[in-house]
Amino acid sequence: MKSTAPSAALLLCVLSRQGHAASGRQCRNVPGSPGYPDAAAWNAFNETIAGRLVNAVPSAKFCADRLGGCTDVEWSSALFRNTIPGAMNGVNWEQGYDLFPPSLCYRNGTTCGQGDVPLYSAEVETVADVQAAVKFASTYDLRLVIKSSGHDSLGRSTAPQSLRIHTSKLNSISFTGNFFVGTQDMGAAVTVGSGVHMNDLYQQGKANGRITVGATAATVCAAGGYVQGAGHSALAPTFGLGADNVFEFLIVVASGELIQVNNVTNSDLFYALRGGGAGSWGVIVSATFRTFPTFNSTGSVITLAATDNTAMAALATLHAEHIFDLDATRSAQYFYLFRDPTSAGSTMTLTSFLINQTVAQSEAILAPFLTAAQALPNITVVSSTYTFALINDLLFMADDSAGVNLVVGSRLIPAAAYKNSPEMVGKVYQQLLDSGAQAILGNLVAGGQVADNAYIDSAVTPAWRTAKTHIILANEWLDSIPLDQINARRSLFKTTQLPILEQLSGPDAGAYSNEADVMEVDFQTTFFGPNYGKLTAIKSKYDPEDLFIVGAGVGSERWDEWGLCPV
Ligand SMILES: Cc1cc2nc3c(=O)[nH]c(=O)nc-3n(C[C@H](O)[C@H](O)[C@H](O)COP(=O)(O)OP(=O)(O)OC[C@H]3O[C@@H](n4cnc5c(N)ncnc54)[C@H](O)[C@@H]3O)c2cc1C
Ligand SMILES: *[C@@H]1O[C@H](CO)[C@@H](O)[C@H](O)[C@H]1NC(C)=O
Ligand SMILES: *[C@@H]1O[C@H](CO)[C@@H](O)[C@H](O)[C@H]1NC(C)=O
Ligand SMILES: *[C@@H]1O[C@H](CO)[C@@H](O)[C@H](O)[C@H]1NC(C)=O
Ligand SMILES: *[C@@H]1O[C@H](CO)[C@@H](O)[C@H](O)[C@H]1NC(C)=O
Ligand SMILES: *[C@@H]1O[C@H](CO)[C@@H](O)[C@H](O)[C@H]1NC(C)=O
Ligand SMILES: *[C@@H]1O[C@H](CO)[C@@H](O)[C@H](O)[C@H]1NC(C)=O
Repeated sequence: MKSTAPSAALLLCVLSRQGHAASGRQCRNVPGSPGYPDAAAWNAFNETIAGRLVNAVPSAKFCADRLGGCTDVEWSSALFRNTIPGAMNGVNWEQGYDLFPPSLCYRNGTTCGQGDVPLYSAEVETVADVQAAVKFASTYDLRLVIKSSGHDSLGRSTAPQSLRIHTSKLNSISFTGNFFVGTQDMGAAVTVGSGVHMNDLYQQGKANGRITVGATAATVCAAGGYVQGAGHSALAPTFGLGADNVFEFLIVVASGELIQVNNVTNSDLFYALRGGGAGSWGVIVSATFRTFPTFNSTGSVITLAATDNTAMAALATLHAEHIFDLDATRSAQYFYLFRDPTSAGSTMTLTSFLINQTVAQSEAILAPFLTAAQALPNITVVSSTYTFALINDLLFMADDSAGVNLVVGSRLIPAAAYKNSPEMVGKVYQQLLDSGAQAILGNLVAGGQVADNAYIDSAVTPAWRTAKTHIILANEWLDSIPLDQINARRSLFKTTQLPILEQLSGPDAGAYSNEADVMEVDFQTTFFGPNYGKLTAIKSKYDPEDLFIVGAGVGSERWDEWGLCPV
């Protein structure tokens, strides 16, 4: 999907239903077009799904219409936002910045447009509900989107004029000691509905003495976008990616059929669902993941402050020189840098998960870096904590913060870059900070078993197998800035930050499709590497009419930014 001249494209789409002869495909039906379902058809569909169809509105409108409004705490709670059918967690994805004219609904605004928010949401509770919604969308040629948590960093769970399938209520969790794929006993596993949040999975795992590979987040859904993108984890260096640990999916595909997908049945789709990109294949009802016996670990949170960019750059180089210190224990670390908006300074917070280590062992692992860091000029340790607990408890979070305008861009940084030129990390950090970067989010979640799993035949891009870290540039803004400045922030990664980051990653580095820039120019190669051709063929087999189209996803090059008209 391209973001160029979007307004013209939409106008064309609305004015003419002829579509493009070359693709043989027309624009999808929107209100006002002859094939759009009338009120009676919507009512009949609603009855089919037991009255679970709701009108969706932007979260700002939902709050404005709600008695007493929404408090700031509610607005920024992912759990609360999940109860709003029209909401995304990043509110910018609800805005129709690129529509003509732009259609916006700000929290404290005086006007409200529907923006990129779906018109209807099917709050599905059963497989039959999902099947009915897929068939309805397909029969009437509607734009269809799927949302489980609404966390998506590329806005792929929303689209204007669309029908949404919201899978939040598919939230069953069931553990077994012996899960069979065909006749083969794969051992202990857990089957989770596609609406199950990570925190519930960790908590239920604790009750069963088990742990699964999952996100460092509260409400991200394991069997939603997470696993389809690849799924990194604090446990990835120890156990591999989320997608490396899935045995089976139950999914409703474009035909409306519910199918079982594993290594022996529909194995081509099994390949695609493990790394081939979220939202491009069908509606996942549930997924079954390998479980491991739970264990104790140490969680450590250390915040370091730098007075200026030069000091932070030196710290970043030192950190890069010590990046392999965690390898012996296959541990993981998040190293998140935030600029202090009120000074020239910045902080770096290291959240480490030291797998199977005591506090004393963990202190010893981090000591070489920390001792050297404290000797650097203009660097101070602000705080430092170590907690020994069950890994389920260390990974548990009550909620995620949401409700801001946020876009990201990222690259997977090869281990070789750290081995050969750690000083380049500092150079790149210095340039990023000097160019105005607000946040550089480093994720040491690769290497170890992620690299060892390179043999697995799945759509996970090979860039994950040679990576050491996944580095995200996050760009936020307030509703109060004018649209041209908003658009500059939306494209800041592409215009300014990527050229800097590429000095470290190399020009052909891959990126993690779940935490990336939806405007990525060559997303096919950057997100999917050599797998794109095979993924295209699998998509045409299971979704020949392109019912499931998402931004920067397989097949999206055939559609406009909104998935409404062919290009
Ligand atoms: C606070 C936070 C922490 C994160 N931590 C991690 C992390 O530790 N590791 C990691 O790998 N990623 C992490 N992510 C990124 C996360 O993996 C992506 O945002 C992912 O897209 C979320 O999937 P979801 O289904 O929960 O979100 P949604 O926004 O609901 O959906 C995301 C995508 O998946 C599709 N989808 C959702 N449900 C279904 C379904 N039932 N069937 C088919 N397609 C579906 C949607 O159409 C969309 O394309 C984090 C994100 C946030 C905001
Ligand atoms: C669907 O039906 C339910 C129950 O009858 C009703 O409350 C709801 O408003 C209907 N949805 C729409 C979009 O009309
Ligand atoms: C909007 O209104 C709320 C509640 O009145 C307030 O707390 C908030 O700071 C305001 N601004 C934005 C951008 O939400
Ligand atoms: C999947 O099947 C292939 C053969 O088709 C086999 O080599 C591989 O080990 C199987 N993987 C799992 C996880 O069963
Ligand atoms: C974790 O450590 C506690 C002591 O702090 C111990 O009682 C418990 O058995 C350990 N759990 C596991 C799974 O090793
Ligand atoms: C440390 O900070 C001081 C004053 O803030 C500055 O003059 C000096 O150059 C800095 N040193 C380094 C190495 O960043
Ligand atoms: C943790 O250590 C115990 C005891 O040495 C071992 O049995 C277990 O496999 C380890 N678990 C992990 C995840 O490393």
